[in-house]
Amino acid sequence: MIEHRRPHVLLVDDEIGTIELLGAVLQRQGFQIDLARTTAAAIALLRTKTFDAVVTDVVFDGRDEGQEVLSACRDLAPSTVVMLMTGHPALSGAVSAIKLGAVDYLQKPVDPVLLAARIHRAVRERQMGSPDDLNYKDLVNILSDLVAQTIERVDPYTAGHGERTRNYCRQIAEKLGLDKRTVERLELAAIAHDYGKIYLDDLSFLTKKGPLTPNEYREVQRHPEVGANKLGTNPHLVEACRYVAEHHERWDGTGYPRRLRGSAISEAGRILCLVEVFDSLTTRRSYKNPWDLQKTLDFFESQTGRAFEPEVLDIFLRLLEVHGPEWLSAPQRDLIAAGVIQAPDAQPAS
Ligand SMILES: [Fe+2]
Repeated sequence: MIEHRRPHVLLVDDEIGTIELLGAVLQRQGFQIDLARTTAAAIALLRTKTFDAVVTDVVFDGRDEGQEVLSACRDLAPSTVVMLMTGHPALSGAVSAIKLGAVDYLQKPVDPVLLAARIHRAVRERQMGSPDDLNYKDLVNILSDLVAQTIERVDPYTAGHGERTRNYCRQIAEKLGLDKRTVERLELAAIAHDYGKIYLDDLSFLTKKGPLTPNEYREVQRHPEVGANKLGTNPHLVEACRYVAEHHERWDGTGYPRRLRGSAISEAGRILCLVEVFDSLTTRRSYKNPWDLQKTLDFFESQTGRAFEPEVLDIFLRLLEVHGPEWLSAPQRDLIAAGVIQAPDAQPAS
């Protein structure tokens, strides 16, 4: 599976204000950041640290030195993603940079939210590895992407929802001490939990503005069990299908479709239910703005022993103390990367 540690990014520019601003926003988006004001300082850092991505200016004090950083990356850290940014765009420069291995060539001023989305996507693609070493991990990630894209096709605002849900579920499950086998099946369920949506008779209301009619609500409540039935009968999927079927059940019996209560819901299902609610509340939809951190915390703190199991909720709230800003900014990042919404005050960036 994809590693979920914070991606490490090196920003290189002689205009310190530029990289301090970009760095501050990228940190809030979940990146670990190092800054370098000169190509020499950047190359020294490349010798001592490992970076997932390097974003470098091209012209330093009037000299065209960006290519030196690019060359150093190629020699010292060939798996690192390199992006160039410049205030003096020239097609020939872009072409030669791409030939030398840069994955992107950005025009200044670079919008930091868009940059974050591009880095995430490039790092993720790089993590998929080369076509020659397809392994089990690659296969799971490729199929996860296919399932996610299928669901996003009928509901574009779910872009990235499956992968984020998978990540947060795994972290809660590991803190709760669930065994590796259960965690793996929970991850599968997290990726596919809304799969049943694509089989609903009427898909138009998934993206409508405003509340659902009673008939539409009844229709949407079918998706957990439809999804569980459609995922297949492979023996490895038995538990994952159960978790999918349970992902809208609530600890206090107020969920759907079967109004299960307490321990009648699997432990993994209780985790998936909480994470699904969290990511939905904090994601922009066609009919609502995302909740901020304080509103989200107030809501979940008020729900202990009600909608969510107390122990799962307690672990989640402790994780939110650490990852709150990163987890709340992730949906916007993914929606921008998928082209569903535009970066705020987006600047042309290539
Ligand atoms: Fe759902």
